Amino acid sequence: MPRFQVLLALACAALLLQQASAFIRVFNTSFADENCREFAWVGANTWRMLEAQSGLVGVEINGMNPVTNLLDQAAALNITVLRAFASGTRPELPLQTAPGVYNEVALKALDQMLADAASRGLRILLILARNWGGPDSRIQYASWNGLQGPDDFYASPAARQDYKDNVAFLVSHVNTVNGRVYRDDPTIFGWDLMNEPRFFFNGTSDPCAQDPKKCADTLQSWIEEMSTYLKSQDPNHLVTVGEEGFFGSDSPQADSNPQPSSNWAEATAQDFVANHQIPTIDFAGIHIWPDNWGVDTQFIQAWIQAHMDATRGMGKPLIIEEFGKNVSSQDPATIAKERNPTFETVLAALNSSLESGDVLKAAQYWMWDPALVDSSSPGWANISQDQVFPSTSTMTDIIAPTARGALQYNTPVAGCTPQATSAPAGRKLLRVPLPPY
Ligand SMILES: *[C@@H]1O[C@H](CO)[C@@H](O)[C@H](O)[C@H]1NC(C)=O
Ligand SMILES: *[C@@H]1O[C@H](CO)[C@@H](O)[C@H](O)[C@H]1NC(C)=O
Ligand SMILES: *[C@@H]1O[C@H](CO)[C@@H](O)[C@H](O)[C@H]1NC(C)=O
Ligand SMILES: *[C@@H]1O[C@H](CO)[C@@H](O)[C@H](O)[C@H]1NC(C)=O
Ligand SMILES: *[C@@H]1O[C@H](CO)[C@@H](O)[C@H](O)[C@H]1NC(C)=O
Ligand SMILES: *[C@@H]1O[C@H](CO)[C@@H](O)[C@H](O)[C@H]1NC(C)=O
Repeated sequence: MPRFQVLLALACAALLLQQASAFIRVFNTSFADENCREFAWVGANTWRMLEAQSGLVGVEINGMNPVTNLLDQAAALNITVLRAFASGTRPELPLQTAPGVYNEVALKALDQMLADAASRGLRILLILARNWGGPDSRIQYASWNGLQGPDDFYASPAARQDYKDNVAFLVSHVNTVNGRVYRDDPTIFGWDLMNEPRFFFNGTSDPCAQDPKKCADTLQSWIEEMSTYLKSQDPNHLVTVGEEGFFGSDSPQADSNPQPSSNWAEATAQDFVANHQIPTIDFAGIHIWPDNWGVDTQFIQAWIQAHMDATRGMGKPLIIEEFGKNVSSQDPATIAKERNPTFETVLAALNSSLESGDVLKAAQYWMWDPALVDSSSPGWANISQDQVFPSTSTMTDIIAPTARGALQYNTPVAGCTPQATSAPAGRKLLRVPLPPY
């Protein structure tokens, strides 16, 4: 083929790819896409993405890297947003090995995941830090700074600075695969400040159980300072907190918390309304963990309603960032009995909000691990209980139809004017060096 025709063919192929060409933005209680149309979705929480991308876990599936395979399947299932850690999830693959010292393998895996998501028209909600431990967690930041305990992380100026330095590094990082600066990449849906920022709760003698207001003030000031800093470094992307959404001890909705009489939820020091109503937080998010909280589908309905009520007053959209339900086996009858009622309850609430134009615009199930394929996959015994396999009824009968349906709610968004597209579809792909002819 003459060189001219090769170039033309490549250009056409590139333009056919449906890349996200503009940032998702928020107008009042709606998300708007590049065409100023409402953007509603069903998403998935992914796990071990960088580990699988870099070959640390998993094996090739259909001749593909397990992450590439997951992205292909997600696109086919109309699961348009994935939530993923911008960090390792296993000790073997930290993003930072020390404050400001980056692991090139993890960083390249993050670059590759974003580039591959871009070429499939998917978006990724990236989580900037972890609460529960492991690499890039607040426990790690606390230990780097010689703090007494992980709960001292939120108040420590030195730990706050380390967190901010990581933010500055990531948003200005140039993707080594497609050349995009992260802050300019519409593939990034937005940022979670942390996965489930909160204080630990160890019992009634816990300092935050004794004085929840004091801890709540500390967490609130951390959220305000970090989100303000993130917005100053990256004004393009949406920002949310990433928390479960417990109501604060002074909140009129405190009785909607799980096991309200024990006050453990208040002792985490989250305060859903205060945490989300500040101007540097663009949308509200909640998590739903019936197994851990010991609650049923009736509670789930009431929990969603209470947060929709609280969010309407903020004039922002609400998403269910995480919801999941363990099963005792992958037997189809067990899945139908143990998991599906939770998924039906959550996704029916989403449908009903979308139908009535209410504030709830998305739900993202937990979880999808690219390296977990069948019972021979490493980690099967320990992490398969909450995995939703694409072949199960949870996917085919509940998630996929709702995901497909959510895309139909693409009505024009009031007040939205189109953005200058920062990354026209496909153009960046042509930076890939052409082979010699
Ligand atoms: C924001 O959206 C709500 C519906 O969710 C609507 O009642 C309200 O009038 C809107 N506010 C503005 C300023 O458009
Ligand atoms: C995804 O949505 C498209 C367009 O509505 C539809 O044709 C396709 O069947 C959907 N995929 C699944 C797996 O439901
Ligand atoms: C609570 O317990 C965890 C795990 O045992 C521990 O790491 C943490 O330091 C404790 N927090 C407080 C405030 O005592
Ligand atoms: C995995 O689960 C088994 C029991 O099911 C347990 O013995 C083992 O310690 C677990 N491994 C890890 C790494 O948690
Ligand atoms: C649910 O399953 C996950 C692993 O898939 C496990 O880590 C977690 O402890 C389980 N939760 C409960 C409440 O059993
Ligand atoms: C949500 O609505 C879609 C149609 O838009 C439907 O196919 C799907 O079954 C509904 N999901 C639930 C959980 O009711």
